[in-house]
Amino acid sequence: MLRRALMAAAASEWVRKAVTGTPAARAVVDQYVAGESSEDAVAVARALRAAGLLVTLDYLGEDTTDAQRAAATTAQYVHLLGKLAAEGLTEDGAVEVSVKPTAVGLLLGAEGEPGPNAVGERVATEHLERIVTAALDAGTTVTIDAEDHTTADAALRIAGSLRSRFPSVGTVLQAALRRTEADVRALATPGTRVRLCKGAYAEPAAEAFGTRHDVDKSFARCLRVLMTGPGYPMVATHDPRLIDITRSLGFARPAGSFEYQMLHGVRPDEQRRLAASGAKVRVYVPYGGDWYPYLVRRLAERPANLALFLRSLGSKS
Ligand code: FDA
Repeated sequence: MLRRALMAAAASEWVRKAVTGTPAARAVVDQYVAGESSEDAVAVARALRAAGLLVTLDYLGEDTTDAQRAAATTAQYVHLLGKLAAEGLTEDGAVEVSVKPTAVGLLLGAEGEPGPNAVGERVATEHLERIVTAALDAGTTVTIDAEDHTTADAALRIAGSLRSRFPSVGTVLQAALRRTEADVRALATPGTRVRLCKGAYAEPAAEAFGTRHDVDKSFARCLRVLMTGPGYPMVATHDPRLIDITRSLGFARPAGSFEYQMLHGVRPDEQRRLAASGAKVRVYVPYGGDWYPYLVRRLAERPANLALFLRSLGSKS
């Protein structure tokens, strides 16, 4: 319920303005978002690298139905990759990028029809191919984020088509979705980079598990398939129990053959602790002006954050 109400609030221009004009609320945004410009993103990536962490950068913006915007987002990624390479940050994939298919055109051409269609899928594939090519030139990789379940088939087709030409392209699967265990088995193939996360979207019961407990059990089942398989698992969670299971399963794997992933601003001490123990840890760092839907998903994950955020909206400083 709470999550659904928050997702609905994501569309509210009033809330967005209130946040932008309230310093204490802005501080909550700054916990999760690196800043608005590519310079901000590169600075945060540089600092994380200095602390021994790997990075994936996400240029915020999603669900666009504007062709120019999809093209501009693509250009922003290409520009960012050039900047990162110039600083030597992309070497061996140390800093890579994450891209949402709906940010680069998946929903174009829908004309009143909700969800992806053939036109949007072609445009998103072409834009992603440009970004992947720029990433390869820079010596790094691209991971294709997962969005709500209506986009899953198209996103997996796009990722599959790109992977057949560019094997390093990463795919994201969400344990919350009932389909994911089958998707995980299909993708547990040699060298395939798969990020497993719980899933951040409010989904209908027919598509997704309804309780946190069932999502966690699904995550553990999928994790086992990935960690005992021949691919490259990217385990995206801050959940201490799932991190423990990952560590146990990791003992049977060759060193460096999987990584932990966490969000910028969430459990930073644990990120550093794991990295200091010799594990590969990648931090997902979003940047850009269009931070509102991302913030709403982070607040929905944690009621305590929401309370803090609402209090800060009401404060004057
Ligand atoms: P859970 O939500 O159970 O949190 C476990 C603990 O982590 C909490 O008790 C708390 O301590 C801490 N925590 C979690 N979220 C927090 C927050 N927002 N603020 C403060 N503390 C918090 N989703 C998706 O649908 N598509 C995607 O492509 C991605 N990509 C992605 C990349 C990476 C690197 C990560 C880490 C996550 C994603 N996600 C995602 C988001 C993911 O699906 C999920 O919503 C969040 O990671 C929260 O789930 P946890 O596994 O952390 O567990």
